[in-house]
Amino acid sequence: MQKKRLLSGVKPTGRPHIGNYFGAIKQFVDLQDEYESFVFVADYHALTTAHSQQNPEEVRNSIKDVVRTYLAAGIDPNKTTLFQQSAVHEHTELAWIFECLTTMPYLMRAHAFKDAEAKNKEISVGTFNYPMLMAADILLYDPDVVPVGKDQQQHVEYARDTAEKFNNLYGDTFAVPEHIILEGVATVPGTDGQKMSKSYNNTIPLFGTKEEIGKAVMGIVTDSEGGRPENVYAIHKLFKSEGELEALYSEKEGSYKELKEALIEDIEASVAPMRERYESITDGEIKNVVAQGAVRAHEQAAAKMIDVRQKVGVTL
Ligand code: ADP
Ligand code: TRP
Repeated sequence: MQKKRLLSGVKPTGRPHIGNYFGAIKQFVDLQDEYESFVFVADYHALTTAHSQQNPEEVRNSIKDVVRTYLAAGIDPNKTTLFQQSAVHEHTELAWIFECLTTMPYLMRAHAFKDAEAKNKEISVGTFNYPMLMAADILLYDPDVVPVGKDQQQHVEYARDTAEKFNNLYGDTFAVPEHIILEGVATVPGTDGQKMSKSYNNTIPLFGTKEEIGKAVMGIVTDSEGGRPENVYAIHKLFKSEGELEALYSEKEGSYKELKEALIEDIEASVAPMRERYESITDGEIKNVVAQGAVRAHEQAAAKMIDVRQKVGVTL
């Protein structure tokens, strides 16, 4: 039986933290046997953010860092087609065609645009058109599922609508994708109990040194009175079964420092092998992986564009 196809994009931004790992990276690793997987670095999407503009070295390093992170976390490039969005020109080509089918009022309803507008930010056309590039990313590959976090659901809806619009106008061309909100993937809390996020400065770095991890864990806010320190426990249960934790947390009840030390050891035991791999992956390996990925992705994307170009009428 043909495997179902999975596709997702990852923006190259900042140092990965354990929220990214449990919320996204690990899922792609776990699903790569079951699905024919395409995972790409959304490097053209990253150009919409101000800090990446005029900072080519930072852009380059972040792209390499995503690939290195995914390989270290267990993505097997023979199972998952891992590539750069910018290497497959059909993404931007199809985005243009979608932009010509799409109206301004429709894109003005996107959350990202509305937020920027509410804050009176001056946004680029690229940011405004973002959902159309994302629709192209998705629809080029006819994926069955597009696993994304909650904040990206609306974008997948845009891709669905765009597929339907194109299909209605030109005949069946694109599969209408489903998004999956990954089951059992809860939001990982940060050291202050809010969602772990780079923007809140409450992260535990995935590839941090033991000292860095230790410092972050010691900083976890423990405001529960007596009993169980919930913020520590919530992170701990990502690394150990609740059965094992019950025993530990009742033995050490009230002793927050010892519980945090136990958590540091458990994080260290899980991430040390990944961190070693991370440090051993060379730039040369990264370039080979994405070059091979681009060839495989391009095969799919180019075949789809032959059909699209024919249908819109530019093929003579
Ligand atoms: P951040 O909030 O740190 O900027 P991103 O928005 O770059 O993180 O998220 C990258 C991926 O990691 C997304 O798929 C997102 O859903 C996932 N992710 C980020 N933070 C968490 C979290 N605290 N819990 C679960 N998943 C998360
Ligand atoms: N917009 C997504 C994010 O910010 C990244 C992304 C770009 C993506 N293209 C995609 C995700 C296609 C899934 C499918 O996280």
